[in-house]
Amino acid sequence: RSTLLGRSYLKETDLSAEEFRSLLDLAALLKAAKRQGREERRLTGKNIALLFEKTSTRTRAAFEVAAADQGASTTYLDPAGSQMGHKESIKDTARVLGRLYDGIEYRGNGQSVVETLGAWAGVPVWNGLTNEWHPTQSLCDVLTMREHSRKPDREISYAFVGDARYNMGNSLLTVGAMLGMDVRIVAPRSLWPADDVIAQAKRYAAELGSRVTVTEEVGEGVRGADFVHTDVWVSMGEAPEVWAERIALLRPYQINADLLAATGNPDVRFMHCLPAFHDLETTVGQSLHEQFGLTELEVTDDVFESPASIVFDQAENRMHTIKALLVATLAGR
Ligand code: CP
Ligand code: NVA
Repeated sequence: RSTLLGRSYLKETDLSAEEFRSLLDLAALLKAAKRQGREERRLTGKNIALLFEKTSTRTRAAFEVAAADQGASTTYLDPAGSQMGHKESIKDTARVLGRLYDGIEYRGNGQSVVETLGAWAGVPVWNGLTNEWHPTQSLCDVLTMREHSRKPDREISYAFVGDARYNMGNSLLTVGAMLGMDVRIVAPRSLWPADDVIAQAKRYAAELGSRVTVTEEVGEGVRGADFVHTDVWVSMGEAPEVWAERIALLRPYQINADLLAATGNPDVRFMHCLPAFHDLETTVGQSLHEQFGLTELEVTDDVFESPASIVFDQAENRMHTIKALLVATLAGR
C-alpha cells in the first residue's frame, strides 16, 4: 500500500523524496500499461471534482483523461458556473465537495486557498497550480527528464531560465534540490524565488549533496546543463502593464540557439510547461512589438520547433503523472 493513500498534494515538499520517486515509477508503469493496452482500472466508482479559478488546457485535460482511463468520473467547476469563491467561501466549498467527492483538484491564485481546501475537505486535494507552486507540473517534468536522459536522478542537471519568482521557478528549484539533482535558477535578481524558497533548497542541498545555483549569469547558469526550462514571462493573473518591464528584464534570458549553444552540450534538450507565448505582436500588441523590436518572447521558434525541444513529450506526461497521483492517493497503489 502506498503511504500516499488519503493524502493531499499541495506542494512538492508534502512528499518525501522517496514518495516523489515512487509516483514517478508508478507513472512510468501506468504509461507503459496504457501504451500496451493493458491498463487496469483502479478508480472505478470514484468521483473527482476539478476546480479551476484560472484557465487551463493541459491540467484539466490530463485530470479528465487520467480519471476516465481509471474508471473515475469528474465534475468541472469554475467561478462563472458555480458559487465558488464569490457566493460561497472556500472553507464551505471544501466541506460540501468533501461530502460528495473522493478527491478535489484546485487551480487558482494564492497557495493559502488550496491549503484551506486541503484542511477542510476531508478528502485528498491536489494543487493544479497556484501562484506559488505547480507541483503536478514538476512531477511531469522530472519524469520527462528521466526518460530523455536515462541517467540516475542525481546525475541530471537542468537550468530554469526566466521569471523564477513564480510557480515554475519555485517548483523546479525545490524538486531538483529534493531529489539530489544539479539545479540552476538563471534570472535577473528581482525575479529570483523568494529567500525562504532558496534557503529551503540550500538546506536540501547541504543534506543530500544536491547542487543548487541561483545566478543572474546566463553563461555560468546553463553551462553543461542537460535540460533548459523556461516559462512565460508574464503569468496568469498578472496585470498586462507588467509586460514592458518584464520584457526589458528578461530579454537577455530568451531561450534561443545562442543560449542553447552556451550550455556546451550538443544533446541539451529544451522544456517548457506550456502554454508558450511565441509571438510578441499577437501576445502583447503592436506598440510593445515596435518599442522592443523583438518578435519572439521566452523562446524562439527555431528552438521550439527543433529536435532539441521535448515540450510535447512533456505535455503528454502531465496525464501519466497525474494518473499516478490519483491512483496513489485514492487507491493506495
Ligand atoms: N502546463 C500547464 O499547467 O498547462 P495548462 O495551463 O494548460 O493547464
Ligand atoms: N507561470 C505560468 C505557468 C502556466 C502553466 C502561470 O502561472 O501562468
